Amino acid sequence: MKNKQVIINSLPEGKLTESNYRLVESEIPEISSDQVLVKTISFAITAGTRAGLQGSASYAGAPTTGIVMNCTGIGEIVKSNSEEYPIGKNVLTQTGWQEYSAQNIQSLTLLRDTVAPSLYLGPLGINGLTAYFGLLEIGQPQEGETVMISAAAGSVGHMVGQIAKIKGCSVIGVCGSDDKCEKLINDLGFDAAINYKDANFRQNLKEATPNGVDVYFDNTGGMILGSALFRLNSGGRIACCGVVSQYDTSTPEPGPRGIPGLLVNKSIRMQGFLVFDFADKYEEATNDLIGWIDSGQLKVLTDELEGLEKAPQGFVDLLAGGNIGTRIVNI
Ligand SMILES: NC(=O)c1ccc[n+]([C@@H]2O[C@H](COP(=O)([O-])OP(=O)(O)OC[C@H]3O[C@@H](n4cnc5c(N)ncnc54)[C@H](OP(=O)(O)O)[C@@H]3O)[C@@H](O)[C@H]2O)c1
Repeated sequence: MKNKQVIINSLPEGKLTESNYRLVESEIPEISSDQVLVKTISFAITAGTRAGLQGSASYAGAPTTGIVMNCTGIGEIVKSNSEEYPIGKNVLTQTGWQEYSAQNIQSLTLLRDTVAPSLYLGPLGINGLTAYFGLLEIGQPQEGETVMISAAAGSVGHMVGQIAKIKGCSVIGVCGSDDKCEKLINDLGFDAAINYKDANFRQNLKEATPNGVDVYFDNTGGMILGSALFRLNSGGRIACCGVVSQYDTSTPEPGPRGIPGLLVNKSIRMQGFLVFDFADKYEEATNDLIGWIDSGQLKVLTDELEGLEKAPQGFVDLLAGGNIGTRIVNI
């Protein structure tokens, strides 16, 4: 039996294309002591990995070709040299875009038996934890405040909005289609949603935020950040989560007008974060997230593709806004 892998064939020049990847067959890896062999069940395609290919995610190191495309996935242990991680257990780990991977046991998180495994790719995985800590620790929303979110129908964004509602805030989502806007309002309970591709975006944002914005959860940077800055109230907070509007290019734009002037004049705090900063609190967050899912307060949107070979096109399409919620590839 062989392993199937999707390899980074070339680094994107300009926009990512399917030809930046190639599908290969290789030997199934041997495992050493303190390793297990994981058979991938599913993995998530997430926007942040495009920053890794661009070289703008310093924590990911320099972009390289000839390696398996990285991602978080869930899989089953099919061979083990560890009593703690026996055959048959399901784990969360950096599976990459491939069927089999040898994993060090330090890189494994055992899935709770009481929870659907796929939840670990969305709300209980990196993106759910990012939504949780970015909003609650960096944004610090107070009941009655207005929270604005960009890429609001995406994996991180749709969870941020719902957590803000749970905390008693008024929630405005910004996303790239009218269909997505309708879903945010009708299915997820957002108070308003605005399409940033609409020619009247700035005016629509103004009308949707009559009391200004207290917390802006920024997934995009770019023009939407620039517009949000002018709606922020004194004492407002900007949680800088990511810059997806500037990932899929070799020539990212400079930051928007208003920095630092508006930050100074309105005592606005603008703070970046990485979810890993909160690793010691993951357990606590996971319990809260499971509680909200069980009570129906947090709805989980997933967008599923079947087959490893769908991953490259699935990633290109995600960057163009094709996904709603967390995009998952089932193997
Ligand atoms: N700080 C951390 O530790 C951390 C951890 C995980 C993720 N992140 C960040 O979280 C953000 C969201 O990631 P995700 O995995 O949840 O992706 P996602 O939101 O599910 O997918 C990306 C979305 O970005 C939107 N988009 C694409 N180009 C855009 C543009 N030019 N302007 C505005 N929106 C654009 C598209 O939706 P539309 O239809 O709305 O255009 C697309 O669906 C990313 O910036 C990522 O880097 C940060």
